[in-house]
Amino acid sequence: MEDTPLMRQLTRDHARRQELEGLVFQSPERTRIITIANQKGGVGKTSTTVNLAAALALGGLNVLVVDADPQGNASTALSIEHHSEVASMYDVLVDSMPMAEIVQDVPDFETLQCAPATIELSGAEIELVSMVARENRLRNALQEYQAAREESGRPRLDFILVDCPPSLGLLTVNALVAAQEVLIPIQAEYYALEGLSMLLRNIDLLRQHLNPSLVVSSILLTMYDARTRLAAQVAQDVRDHFPDQTLETTIPRSVRISEAPSYGQTVVSYDPHSTGALAYRAAAKELTTRPAP
Ligand SMILES: Nc1ncnc2c1ncn2[C@@H]1O[C@H](COP(=O)(O)OP(=O)(O)OP(=O)(O)O)[C@@H](O)[C@H]1O
Ligand SMILES: [Mg+2]
Repeated sequence: MEDTPLMRQLTRDHARRQELEGLVFQSPERTRIITIANQKGGVGKTSTTVNLAAALALGGLNVLVVDADPQGNASTALSIEHHSEVASMYDVLVDSMPMAEIVQDVPDFETLQCAPATIELSGAEIELVSMVARENRLRNALQEYQAAREESGRPRLDFILVDCPPSLGLLTVNALVAAQEVLIPIQAEYYALEGLSMLLRNIDLLRQHLNPSLVVSSILLTMYDARTRLAAQVAQDVRDHFPDQTLETTIPRSVRISEAPSYGQTVVSYDPHSTGALAYRAAAKELTTRPAP
């Protein structure tokens, strides 16, 4: 058989399909709260959040997506209502509304839920500034929500994934204070590592002052084009710098991934056997099998 990139992809997809078919993921010992952050725009934060969440739910786990980005892209991708009248993360963060009142079920998934963001959330960035414990609002809200779930006898969440806006403002800070782990998506292109040191410096500061247990547990290479030498070079650079954190799975550039949101779907539900869906499902499996920090 010819060894071409296409042939390699087909072979890998086939292997992944067999490996993932019907696979039930192992539930973590405690709820893992992972914030997906990178202040660089358009690197695949939202695609990663919703598709990992969908893949984890497909593997039988209980998952909550928190949309902490006023753009509301994660809410859109999950087909969650988020026009300006909908109760959203704005009400939770600014008006202390219990999260149980805003969380919605994601259609087509039994164990996936989403706390939506509306455009109001853009005001929160400013309104939070003058508030008491402004950096801890999401952390407190999530703790209350988890306790309320337990009290009402609902199953414990296995994963909470928080999607961040492309900035290091108070919304991202809230997300980083609420989490135990950060997952950084990095687009495999030339400027990939620019800005990363600033993100890491900020995470260090947060660790010193607000959340000592925060770790960068995972780095995921996104929009990876195996045919270009540049992508391979960037991937190698990232792996050299972060050998323990970088997931083995890379997410390929894929039209299916980019078109799924226009159908209000994740690629995992829209076309579960496509290369992109299989990659996210493999990444989800990797996430559940690597030791949690
Ligand atoms: N693997 C991929 N292949 C092709 N297109 C992709 C892939 N991942 C993401 N995209 C597309 O790239 C664009 C940016 O992706 P996404 O919205 O996930 O990034 P983001 O980091 O959340 O952006 P923002 O910083 O604006 O929140 C979107 O149009 C998305 O559909
Ligand atoms: Mg986004």
